Amino acid sequence: MLEHPQRRAPEAARPRIKVSDEARFFRGWLQRPLIMGAVSPSSRALGRAMASYVPDPASFALNGKVLELGPGTGVVTQTLIDRGVPEHSLVLVEYSREFCQLLRKRFPAAEVIQGDAYAIGAALPAWIGVSPLEAVVSSLPLFTRPDEMREAVIGRSLERMQRGSPFIQFSYALTQPVKAKRIGATLELSPWIKRNLPPARVLVYRAA
Ligand SMILES: C[S@@+](CC[C@H](N)C(=O)[O-])C[C@H]1O[C@@H](n2cnc3c(N)ncnc32)[C@H](O)[C@@H]1O
Repeated sequence: MLEHPQRRAPEAARPRIKVSDEARFFRGWLQRPLIMGAVSPSSRALGRAMASYVPDPASFALNGKVLELGPGTGVVTQTLIDRGVPEHSLVLVEYSREFCQLLRKRFPAAEVIQGDAYAIGAALPAWIGVSPLEAVVSSLPLFTRPDEMREAVIGRSLERMQRGSPFIQFSYALTQPVKAKRIGATLELSPWIKRNLPPARVLVYRAA
């Protein structure tokens, strides 16, 4: 029998389906594989490895910010908070509207910006104002973009930070997404994090 439209339960009364982060991620990957760059969220082990390269939050300047590019569902974000980065110091730039909504609920004190991380050159003043930038933590799938865009996102970040401050990126690849010499930087590589599937490592670029 066909349901009468007026007898359908109102939207708010219908049971809400709890979608797991894995399902959200997979759905995002099906819709935009090149933007997502992964079929599931990173492991906490990888997040912790990335967070370990952020300078000690006790040494942050007053109003210092940590910029996260491509936070997704917030696995890495949570490890930054666990490391002691104050939530209100976090500026999260994420492309997906759905993930932004989720991030605002999970990290209400953080600044969540729905935007394109590759616009960093022009957009950074709007994202962080004149606040000191302590670190940039990126999960962007850099290999889906041309060399110039990859170099610009790291290069522009390093220009805005004090010498020695890190641009922290993870990668599954054996080759480097950006050759450090091309942007006048040094590169430090973590050991492979085998508990992440697929195994990944952390790349830390700093102005030379
Ligand atoms: C590999 S996922 C990583 C997500 C999360 N940080 C993690 O490790 O589980 C890449 C994330 O970057 C976001 N992203 C991709 N391109 C972007 C862009 N140009 N600007 C902002 N976010 C972007 C995607 O929407 C996705 O959430």
